Amino acid sequence: MKIGILTGGGDCPGLNPVIRGVVRTAINAGDEVLGIRYGWKGLLEKDCIALDLRSVSGILPKGGTILGTSRTNPYKKENGSKAAKENFKALGLDALIVVGGEDTLGVATKLFKEGVKVVGVPKTIDNDLGATDFTFGFDTSVNIVMECIDRLHTTAESHNRIMVVEVMGRHAGWIATYSGIAGGADYILIPEMPIDIGEICESIKKRHSRGKNFSIIVVSEGAAFKESDVAVQEKKLDEFGHVRLGGIGEMLGKIIEERTGYETRVTVLGHIQRGGSPTAFDRVLGTRFGVKAYELIKAGKFGKMVSLRGTEIIDVSLEEATKALKTVDLKLYEIAKIFFG
Ligand code: F6P
Repeated sequence: MKIGILTGGGDCPGLNPVIRGVVRTAINAGDEVLGIRYGWKGLLEKDCIALDLRSVSGILPKGGTILGTSRTNPYKKENGSKAAKENFKALGLDALIVVGGEDTLGVATKLFKEGVKVVGVPKTIDNDLGATDFTFGFDTSVNIVMECIDRLHTTAESHNRIMVVEVMGRHAGWIATYSGIAGGADYILIPEMPIDIGEICESIKKRHSRGKNFSIIVVSEGAAFKESDVAVQEKKLDEFGHVRLGGIGEMLGKIIEERTGYETRVTVLGHIQRGGSPTAFDRVLGTRFGVKAYELIKAGKFGKMVSLRGTEIIDVSLEEATKALKTVDLKLYEIAKIFFG
């Protein structure tokens, strides 16, 4: 078989372990793997490289993706989906493994309905894909943020300051909730819960009156004040209709300083959360996903996505996986709340 593989959307740690998992299993079984560069863009332009054992040697600990990525949407290009289908045939592919988040996998779902043999692998630091307990990339991101919160604690305490930390996650507060619990944040603000600024300032004041002279507030980039919209850096939409989120940390920092009178600083972690080497968890999950994706292709199970359920790697339908955003489990947020203030 000749199997294509592409990585689309925002990169994240763990993509290379998936590619390595697919290539090593396929080549051991006598199959060929073609790497498609820069996500769907590479399929539209037939920009590919043959992947052999040498190409995947040493990539397990590397962040990013050796294939490159883009946010190209074939359905937003003139004759894009037609070109994608024609090029799939012209490249002699028997199947395509698509590694991506809701946007990239949304395209895979549509192409599958139009007859392309695809299997999906869920990737994103945001952990917002339905039908899987975790996406790879998330654990690495949470560990990076946790370390940053630990570092901010020492400087916050030395200066008697409030530190606001803005983290990624788009419209789901998974990164904020997990890293906030792990880092001992004094408040965690997520898109799923509108920000009640009065309540936060009161809670900070109470904390300070108890003798605590610093506070750490983690805010997810998609969080918004009651009756207002999300903060954006750029209103321009990408090919999947997304704006660039960001700015809520600065807004929040100013208001908190004004209302509490405590000196406040804001840290926006940005793309640091997506860079660098994957954690052991993400390396193992990526590897297991890659191996399972290959097995699904061998079994002729197309239109599926590999998924983690408990400790098992299973397959689910791509359609089910891309139907709805997976937002934060509010039972988990209740646990986080115990430690607020
Ligand atoms: O979806 C992953 C993500 O890192 C989001 O958390 C964030 O909002 C977005 O991508 C940033 O996108 P870009 O890399 O295009 O700035």
